Amino acid sequence: MKVCIIYDSITGNTKKLAETIKEKFSKDIVEKELADIIFIGSWTDKGNPSEKIQKELLNIKNKKIFYFGTCGFGGNEEYFALLFSRARKFIDESNEIIGYFYCQGKMPISIKERYEQMLKSNPNDEKIKKSIENFENALAHPNEDDLNELKKAIDKAIKL
Ligand SMILES: Cc1cc2nc3c(=O)[nH]c(=O)nc-3n(C[C@H](O)[C@H](O)[C@H](O)COP(=O)(O)O)c2cc1C
Repeated sequence: MKVCIIYDSITGNTKKLAETIKEKFSKDIVEKELADIIFIGSWTDKGNPSEKIQKELLNIKNKKIFYFGTCGFGGNEEYFALLFSRARKFIDESNEIIGYFYCQGKMPISIKERYEQMLKSNPNDEKIKKSIENFENALAHPNEDDLNELKKAIDKAIKL
């Protein structure tokens, strides 16, 4: 089975996922045209794959696709499913989607600083407090567990 890995990562989170996939398929990595499966991944930019990956997705035809992504907010399956429903809009119908995987990824410190500023003017705002909590949670991701879950998701997708 020949695979191709395409990804976009600004701060290295999505790159960690891509490197894990690379290790898994080390000898079977080929260019896009020759691949049976395209692994394509992105960070989340305002709820969508990055513009670069949106364009890449639109250009893939007649392949098996496994999508992987990282996101800063909501480390739960519901949020991941919502994000994937947005990503799949960029995938042509001639492709077969064999699976997807998301996990949280740490965010830039500027985001926490913005929440902290907001909290100064609204010290009892539970939403802002939750956002700071979520920011702290995200700092540890992607971690080893995330990468193991990714490997499992890929194994499951390949067996289908
Ligand atoms: C401009 C910008 C927009 C973002 N929008 C979202 C978003 O809508 N939802 C989300 O969960 N995370 C969002 N994030 C967080 C990143 O997607 C997250 O930190 C990701 O893991 C970064 O991946 P990378 O290290 O591969 O670049 C945003 C980050 C930036 C910088």
